[in-house]
Amino acid sequence: MSKTYHIINYGCQMNESDSEHFAGQLADLGYGYAQDFHQADVVLINTCCVRESAEKKILGKIGEMKAIKAANPSKVICVAGCMAQKDGEKLLRTYPQIDLIIGTAHVNNFRAIFQSYVNSKKKDKKIFSDLQNDPQEFDGSFVRKSSFSAWVPIMYGCNNFCTYCIVPYVRGRERSRSKESIIAEITKATLQGFKEVTLLGQNVNSYGNDQKQVNAFSDLLKAVDNIPGIERVRYMTSHPRDMSEDLVRTIAASKHICKHFHIPVQSGSNKIIKAMNRGYTREQYLELVANIRKYVPDAVVTTDIIVGFPGETEEDFAATLQLVDEVCYDVAYTFIYSKRSGTPAAKLTEQVPLAVKKERLNRLMELQNNNSLVRNQALVGKVLEVLVEGPSYNNPNIWSGRTDGNKLVLWPLADRKYTIGAKLNVKIEAAQTWLLKGSAQA
Ligand code: SAH
Ligand code: SF4
Ligand code: F3S
Repeated sequence: MSKTYHIINYGCQMNESDSEHFAGQLADLGYGYAQDFHQADVVLINTCCVRESAEKKILGKIGEMKAIKAANPSKVICVAGCMAQKDGEKLLRTYPQIDLIIGTAHVNNFRAIFQSYVNSKKKDKKIFSDLQNDPQEFDGSFVRKSSFSAWVPIMYGCNNFCTYCIVPYVRGRERSRSKESIIAEITKATLQGFKEVTLLGQNVNSYGNDQKQVNAFSDLLKAVDNIPGIERVRYMTSHPRDMSEDLVRTIAASKHICKHFHIPVQSGSNKIIKAMNRGYTREQYLELVANIRKYVPDAVVTTDIIVGFPGETEEDFAATLQLVDEVCYDVAYTFIYSKRSGTPAAKLTEQVPLAVKKERLNRLMELQNNNSLVRNQALVGKVLEVLVEGPSYNNPNIWSGRTDGNKLVLWPLADRKYTIGAKLNVKIEAAQTWLLKGSAQA
C-alpha cells in the first residue's frame, strides 16, 4: 500500500498556498492523502506566529504528535511555516517528536529535503531556516484544494515593518514573481477549469517594486483580467498607503476584478497609526474610501483592526469607533494586540491591560456586527451573481456561493442541479450579520 500524508494548516492564505505546494511535492513522491492525521505516514504542520493565540493552538497540536510518534517512530513529523522560521531550534529542543523544521523560504525545495531525510540511515533531525534560500519562482507541483478557485502568490515577504508585526522577520524581504510566470500559472489554471484566482502577497500594491517596475500591480491586474476563462480576480492584501486612485480606476473599469476592497486600517487614531508605522493618516484613509465609493458605488469595503496597541488611550479607541461608524464596513476582522517579541512595539512600555483590550474588542465588535447587518440588509430584494461553492456546511439541501464582494449566500436546492464553480443569479430575501439568504433564479 502506498504511503500517505496529512497537512494541518494554520495562518493566512499564503500558508494555505504553501500547503498546496507541500502537498504537490509529497504527491510527486508517491504519497497519497490521508483524511485522518493519525493514519498518515507523514504529518506536516504549517504554522503561523502572527498572534500568541495562534501559537498556543499550534503548540497543542505539536504536542499531540508525541503519542503518534511514540506509537510509530517511522512516521515523519514536519513543522513548517512562520513559527518554524521563528522558533525552529527551540521547537526541536522542546518537542523531540519533530523530525524536520522547514522555514518559510524552503517550500520550493521541500521535496529534496524530505527525500534526503527519508533516504538517510541516521535520520538526523534538521532545521532549514535560511531566509536567503528562496528562489523567486516556484516550479514544483501543487495539489489545489478547491476545484474552481486558485491561490496564486505574486510576491513573497514584506518590507513594511509595521511595528506590531512579526511577518517581515519570518518571511524576509519582498520578492516578486515575474509577470510571465504568474500569467502562465493562471492561464493553465483556467484551462483546467478554474474560474477564480486570488493573487497573494503581504502588500500586493508593492508588486514589482523590488524589480524597479512602475505600476506593476495595475498592469498585472489588467493582464489577468484579460485571461480567457477567468471569471473572478481577487487579491490580498492591499496596503491603504499604496492604493492609488489609478488602481481604483483600473479595478472599476475591469471586467472580472472583484469590487471588493480589503483595506486594513488597523486604528482610527493618527497617533496610533503613526506609532504602528503604517504610513497614512486617518484623513488620507478616509479619502481613499471616498474615492473607492466614487468610482465603485456598490463596492464592498472590509478591514482589519487591532485594539489595544501600546499607548492606545480611551480617546484613541474612540477615534477607531468613530472611523468604523463613518466608513460602515461590510466586514471588519478585529484583533486584540498581541505582543510579538523582536518587534518594535513589544519594547513600548505603555502596554494596555488585557481586560481593557477585551472590553474594547467587545465594544468594537458590537458596533461592527450592527454595521455588517445594515450593509447586508441593504442587499435584500436585489438579484446578485454568485459563484457556486457547493452544499452548505451543515445542510446538503441548502447550497452556498459567494458574491463578487465575497459575501456568503445560501439558497435551498429546490429540485435543481447546480454546477460547482458556475455563476448563478440569486434573489436575496433575508440578511444576517455574516450571510445572505435567497432563492436561485432561473
Ligand atoms: N500583510 C497583511 C496581513 C498581515 S496579518 C496586511 O498587512 O494586511 C493580518 C492581520 O493581523 C493584520 O492586518 C493585523 O490586523 C493583524 N495583526 C498583525 N500582527 C498583529 C499583532 N501583533 N497583534 C494583533 N494583530 C496583529
Ligand atoms: Fe505585517 Fe504590515 Fe507587512 Fe502586513 S504590511 S505583513 S501588517 S508588516
Ligand atoms: Fe501567520 Fe505567517 Fe501568514 S505569521 S498570518 S502564516 S505570513
